[in-house]
Amino acid sequence: MPPTQYRTVHTVEVTEDRIGQTVTVAGWVQRRRDHGGIVFVDVRDATGIVQVVLDPTEIPEAHRLRMEFCVSITGEVRARPEGTVNPDLATGRVEIGATGLEVLSPADTLPFMIEDRVEVDERTRLEFRYLDLRRPSMAANVVARSRAIAAMRRVMDRLGFLEVETPTLIVSTPEGARDLLVPSRLRPGTFYALPQSPQLFKQLLMVAGVERYYQVAKCYRDEDFRADRQIEFSQLDLEGSFWGREEVLETLEEIVVEVVRELRGVELERPFLRLTWQEAMDRYGTDKPDTRFGMEIVDLSDVFAETEFRAFSATLDAGGVVRGFNAGGQETSRSRLDGLVERARELGAKGLVWMVVQPDATLRSPVAKFLSDDELAAVVERLDARPGDLLLVAADEWRTAASVLGQLRVELGRPAGHRELAPLFVIDFPTFEPTEDGGWAPSHHPFTAPVDVDQMASDPEHSISWAYDLVLNGAELGSGSVRIHDPEVQAKVFDVLGIEPEEAERRFGWFLRGLRYGTPPHAGFAIGIDRFVSILRDEPNIRQVIPFPKTQTGADPLTGAPSAVADTHLAELGIMLRPGLGADDR
Ligand code: AMO
Ligand code: AMP
Repeated sequence: MPPTQYRTVHTVEVTEDRIGQTVTVAGWVQRRRDHGGIVFVDVRDATGIVQVVLDPTEIPEAHRLRMEFCVSITGEVRARPEGTVNPDLATGRVEIGATGLEVLSPADTLPFMIEDRVEVDERTRLEFRYLDLRRPSMAANVVARSRAIAAMRRVMDRLGFLEVETPTLIVSTPEGARDLLVPSRLRPGTFYALPQSPQLFKQLLMVAGVERYYQVAKCYRDEDFRADRQIEFSQLDLEGSFWGREEVLETLEEIVVEVVRELRGVELERPFLRLTWQEAMDRYGTDKPDTRFGMEIVDLSDVFAETEFRAFSATLDAGGVVRGFNAGGQETSRSRLDGLVERARELGAKGLVWMVVQPDATLRSPVAKFLSDDELAAVVERLDARPGDLLLVAADEWRTAASVLGQLRVELGRPAGHRELAPLFVIDFPTFEPTEDGGWAPSHHPFTAPVDVDQMASDPEHSISWAYDLVLNGAELGSGSVRIHDPEVQAKVFDVLGIEPEEAERRFGWFLRGLRYGTPPHAGFAIGIDRFVSILRDEPNIRQVIPFPKTQTGADPLTGAPSAVADTHLAELGIMLRPGLGADDR
């Protein structure tokens, strides 16, 4: 970075080869120590830290300096005295002997120290986010996010994609979450919706002849917050025409490889692993498997086909499954094992059988007495069990068994502090998933193409679609699909979903009409940028990589949003609040 009127160099550049030179640095007072009349100050800027020594007899203002004052300091670079060298710092062999100090602006007493190690509650961090972002790990997250997005744009540009912006004041579209609404002043009583994603606009760009589209897009979903969910978040959204699944997955690999190279300095192997949705569910109990560790789930239904144990036989008779996995060497105190059974029930299981392999290879289990020797031996063999291993078995409806065992597998086996990256694609998702009232909902979204249209209509339960997910270390990084480009097929999908033609016309007639003007086959994807960066930065919560996020309850402690607005403003919008709502102190 070039010099400015406030500095001739950045702190990182103040090294031994500049000894004897006069330099000016600018930044913040990270630390200040008074030593027998001499003031030592660590000056921090975006590149690092350098030590400055000020003699108050020459520079009286030095006594004024306090933490986080913004300063510009001129002085001579000199070697640090013997014994004061700091080998951990790029600038640790030198210091600046100050000849001039300019306080650019003072700082109030800080609400917390600008250091990584201090414990601060998150509300305070968010209220003073600009100070929180000065902390080294948070500053590094800001840099990482920028570099990740720059890498994405580089790939998209290299591959000939156009970045096209789409509007953020639109109509409600069916992406599955609740819309955020914005009242219209010019047409009181009507509302814009904020986009849950650019989905329909990017498809219309394909109709418009843009063959390769991308956008770093803000998306808005009024969902409950979680560690990996915010009300507003960012996607790398992309779409290509005359494309099918392979073109999308290949493009995604290019993007992921480049971003990982940028942030982690490692080269991922291509092609990425692919699992069908069925395989992922069967082996890992989830559609976002973490393959960094084993403990794969194994079907044991046939082992127990003739069992006398009621819990298993009743489930099998009812069309369920018996499945289990080998959790390896675990702590197997009675309270821990009871805790696991309790956890399984909490996750929705009817129960959980634990078995601990004894030194003589027999099984210690509360239900061992109900199981035959052959059954026990078969379990040991199927689960490749060794003395000391803990085996967990559940009998349940297929989906419940998968989700409970999949969750326990992750809780018992996920490696902590593991820097390995395991990207994979899950393909062949079902077109629909069952709703509670016995109908069907789209697994992805209703614009996803089914592989076999006739089967989709006649046997929705078993219909497979051209939808795929990108998974990294057990987290869903993104989703996409080949789209329906034939209005007839689109109508059939709405039919299965129970959306009447009139309703479809009313809700997205504007989009369906577009499909009737020579729509090219097209496919696309969206990567959750916040999730991607948080995983690469080993941050467990996406708030850590979003510069100005909201709290769990959707609040922004910095600005006070969401906030009440003036009655006059509401009146202009034609809005009257229910009694008890709204602000009393305006
Ligand atoms: P989908 O709804 O699966 O697909 O979203 C894609 C990715 O966006 C991220 N994401 C979120 N990140 C943070 N907070 C949220 N609330 C949130 N919701 C989603 C996830 C997710 O995998 N239009 C389709 C894509 C397509 O078909 O092309 C879509 O939005 O990482
Ligand atoms: P119960 O007969 O409910 O007391 O269960 C006896 C044992 O079998 C307990 O350890 C339960 O956790 C276990 N169990 C009951 N139902 C199931 C099931 N569907 N799958 C696995 N274990 C079960």
